[in-house]
Amino acid sequence: MHSVTRRRLLATTVGLAAAAVTPRLVQAQAQAPGPAAGPFRRDPLPYPPNALEPHIDAKTMEIHPERHHQAYVTNLNNVAKDHPQIAQQPIPDVLAKLNDVPEAVRTMVRNNLGGHANHTMFWQIMGSGGGRPSGDVAAAIDRDLGGLDKFQNDFNAAGGRVFGSGWVFVTVDRAGKLAMETKPNQDTPLMDGKRVLFGNDVWEHAYYLQYQNRRPDYLKAWWNVVNWGKVGERYAAAKAGTLGV
Ligand SMILES: [Fe+2]
Repeated sequence: MHSVTRRRLLATTVGLAAAAVTPRLVQAQAQAPGPAAGPFRRDPLPYPPNALEPHIDAKTMEIHPERHHQAYVTNLNNVAKDHPQIAQQPIPDVLAKLNDVPEAVRTMVRNNLGGHANHTMFWQIMGSGGGRPSGDVAAAIDRDLGGLDKFQNDFNAAGGRVFGSGWVFVTVDRAGKLAMETKPNQDTPLMDGKRVLFGNDVWEHAYYLQYQNRRPDYLKAWWNVVNWGKVGERYAAAKAGTLGV
């Protein structure tokens, strides 16, 4: 038999064989649990994706939670199949004791659990409100961070200085004292045993569709979508010792 003909015949035979098993494969895939099945879960946004326009575009607010945040959750659920203990303690406790996580998956847990915690906080503390802080949070900003105008300028500058991808945070301790810090990648002050009052994501995926390389413009516009009411609730929770991620 001519070799080309033989190859064609072989290909046809393999193709027929594949066609014969395809329906069963499809059925098996439909019945199998998806890659995201597991103990970790991403809550839906508490507002529609277009709620933050014109400051953050709706497309970003679809892709950012549904693909970027979801990828961290999916990765965690895959790790949890062999290491269920990462889901058996509160997230801040796991992140504060990363040395207890097996070395083989420690970096994976650091990146993905950090990313899950950071984004869970991030969706919560935004909304269509804007405005200014009030009450205890406003007083704490005046006392610890030099007043709202100075604090916002310092926060924007710190966010602008993050090289590559990372976050800028305001931390809060049990006495209600505030401080500002930045972290690279998906690291979080939770890794240092601290609590996060709020923070801003300065990864390019958070702003590139609308702002491209103009991170300073994004940082400035972002204040229009901070939900100060929610920040106030988190501040009270921190003082009560009940603030999680
Ligand atoms: Fe992000």
